[in-house]
Amino acid sequence: MLNSLQKEIINLKNEKNGIILGHNYQPKEIQEISDFIGDSLELCIKASEVEDSDLIIFCGVDFMAETAAILNSDKKVLIPDYGAECPMAHMLNAMDVLKAKTMHPNAEVALYVNTLAEAKAEADILVTSSNAVKVVESLDSDQILFGPDNNLASYVDKRTDKEIIVIPDGGYCYVHKMFNVGDVIFKKEMYPNAEVLIHPEADMEVQNMADAILSTGGMISHIKNSKNKEFIIGTEVDLITRINREFPDKIAIPLLDDGICRTMKLNSLDKVKKTIFNEEFQVNVDSEIAKRSLRAIERMIDVSTTK
Ligand code: 13P
Ligand code: SF4
Repeated sequence: MLNSLQKEIINLKNEKNGIILGHNYQPKEIQEISDFIGDSLELCIKASEVEDSDLIIFCGVDFMAETAAILNSDKKVLIPDYGAECPMAHMLNAMDVLKAKTMHPNAEVALYVNTLAEAKAEADILVTSSNAVKVVESLDSDQILFGPDNNLASYVDKRTDKEIIVIPDGGYCYVHKMFNVGDVIFKKEMYPNAEVLIHPEADMEVQNMADAILSTGGMISHIKNSKNKEFIIGTEVDLITRINREFPDKIAIPLLDDGICRTMKLNSLDKVKKTIFNEEFQVNVDSEIAKRSLRAIERMIDVSTTK
């Protein structure tokens, strides 16, 4: 049952012909008012298909909203709080990419979607945690410049014969870095029948203990199709909110109770209402940078949607 504020937001959004896109890490009250919830790739694809809406309200973090804005230069894309930044996306700037390109002129550049537009503009293609291996394998070069996440880079490196060169050495997600081997052992002892699902942003020794290494959207599909009942979830805690909403007969246990992405939680209902009402906190991207980064985004969507 939606509360009165949630109903008000939905009415307001409908009056303005808007659409609310929410990432899997959004808190329950935001998930409940979202028209679409997904992982980074699913949200990119959805954002490329919203011709009928005039307003996009993006409940996630900065790089996701920026990507939606690049895909929709004719629409207003709003983010309820400008402070909702992904720290990892700020670890790689355009200059780092340009320097790496000078050092490796024959390499193709595959950047994690968790980057700012200025870096995306220097990429040949983007990857997300759900398609990284497929995207890298689709490239012609045997040398791939990859950034910013070291752990996703190692995950890809294990699954391709191409040479993965990480730029810069040190990009990481502080949330997934919290997980350690002891956490997995502890939860496995408590729930011996549970399958362990780990996000590829986690450290390699934690990934090595997983039954499956998946993006957040991949975890949702896996749980949907699995006969298993219990799952230890090695990613941000609010993915469990989505699992509980959609699969009430399954049991999802957080690998760590305080695996919380703080900036994802800045998008409160009050802020969403204010953003839509005032049409404020628009996401603006320099038109030249948007044009150049659009190529890399569209190329990734093409590779991901082709069988
Ligand atoms: P997903 O694409 O798996 O949702 O990951 C996004 C993210 O920010 C992980 O921390
Ligand atoms: Fe960024 Fe990590 Fe938060 Fe994902 S969980 S948005 S990578 S800080």
